[in-house]
Amino acid sequence: MAQSIILILDGDSHEAESLKAILGFIDLQTEQISDPATWDWSRWENQDWTAVCVGRLDPPALRDASLARLHQQAPRLPILWLDPAPPSLIDHPMWPLQQPVRHEQLVETLRQVDLYRQSARLKDRPRNVELFRSLVGNSRAIRNVRKLISQVAGADANVLILGESGTGKEVVARNIHYYSSRRNGPFIAVNCGAIPGELLESELFGHEKGAFTGAVSSREGRFEAARGGTLFLDEIGDMSLPMQVKLLRVLQERVFERVGSNRSIPADVRIVAATHRVLEEQIARGQFREDLYYRLNVFPIEMPPLRERVEDLPLLLEEIIARLEHDRGASVRLTPAAVIALCQWRWPGNVRELANLIERLAILHPFGTVDLADLPENYRVQPGIGGATPTEMPTVHPALAQLAGSDGPSLPRLPREGLDLKQHLAEVEINLIRQALDASDGVVSQAAKLLRLGRTTLVEKLRKYGLVRSDVSTDP
Ligand SMILES: Nc1ncnc2c1ncn2[C@@H]1O[C@H](COP(=O)(O)OP(=O)(O)OP(=O)(O)O)[C@@H](O)[C@H]1O
Ligand SMILES: [Mg+2]
Repeated sequence: MAQSIILILDGDSHEAESLKAILGFIDLQTEQISDPATWDWSRWENQDWTAVCVGRLDPPALRDASLARLHQQAPRLPILWLDPAPPSLIDHPMWPLQQPVRHEQLVETLRQVDLYRQSARLKDRPRNVELFRSLVGNSRAIRNVRKLISQVAGADANVLILGESGTGKEVVARNIHYYSSRRNGPFIAVNCGAIPGELLESELFGHEKGAFTGAVSSREGRFEAARGGTLFLDEIGDMSLPMQVKLLRVLQERVFERVGSNRSIPADVRIVAATHRVLEEQIARGQFREDLYYRLNVFPIEMPPLRERVEDLPLLLEEIIARLEHDRGASVRLTPAAVIALCQWRWPGNVRELANLIERLAILHPFGTVDLADLPENYRVQPGIGGATPTEMPTVHPALAQLAGSDGPSLPRLPREGLDLKQHLAEVEINLIRQALDASDGVVSQAAKLLRLGRTTLVEKLRKYGLVRSDVSTDP
């Protein structure tokens, strides 16, 4: 890409020249369009335009037409307008420039333009791709899940993902798709539990016009929409028995028909199913077909609950906060004490619950630091009290214990009723001096070294606090 250039759209050559001179003075390259009708718009493609300065162009209709074209080609290219009448563009980033243009004003405006361009670039990053690629965690269980994903992704086998609600089953499904040869095809998710039984069939297979009351036009179903890609059948355990029969047939014969049609359509999809239910129990109760279970369960992947892999919690926090920062411009931090308390919680809602909590904390403490006392009450678990029962309580992972110490000594919190700062600091000082004296067997010069104080300064403090003891040697 070529060097960045400021485009000057101005029919007034005098005005354009003075603008070019100022921009040249701050080392910016310019290119002028004095007549949009004759300018070679193919040049547009090959430049990294920083902004466009829009001045006078007559007739006004010509100016409007040029700006409309510009907006169409580059809806995010900043416009600096000189003409007193602002361009009639909706939703386009624009800054006014006062006439005559002065150096400081221009530099300040260009600084704002630069900030805008940086943030626009951030927004443009294909973050979503990263999102479902990232299955955050370094616990043994998650590493194992990653290994299973890499083993199965390349094969076209059906996959069944099991695990409690909020453990990341959809994240896994998207990963399988992403790492498969179908990654350029669509990933289509259907929540089989949320769609009423009688609608699910047409949702999955589509329907022809007039197939049932209300079918005013024909429509393709999710199997067709996912052609060449992956169909994610979420909450498969909630599918009605009659629908299970229909799905089983498609899995066996690899063809399906739209409702109201007898034309067979090949099912060119990879099936990934998920459920938070225990399907064996469903089978025992006659709610799930065993034959369908075996069809789906070719390659099972079990998602561990969060409470069994709390060592992943700090990494998950980092990821969730990074997402908040990127998507919402919000942020929050947690003290090690708060993180350790969260590690003791039993997380019935798993990662989803964690993400919701962090979002809530970011609203309550925008860009603040959340300490143990700031957590909602039920999360303030002390070892052995509430939350997890002792048997299910995870031991704090060494990495976390280290984290607790990583911030140095924990900082005292201001009590609600306040405190006498002078007295408090004196107590801290006395306490540390006593420790230093003990550690140096009462030799003041050594204690002074430990405290990074001059010997005389320490002697003064000893006198002030009445700490001169018989065993303390204040001799030089
Ligand atoms: N390992 C992980 N790394 C990063 N984000 C995760 C991870 N696991 C879960 N999440 C996030 O937690 C939330 C819940 O994940 P997901 O929807 O995949 O769970 P689920 O198991 O499908 O839940 P449910 O059964 O409730 O549908 C999502 O926002 C997801 O991005
Ligand atoms: Mg889900």
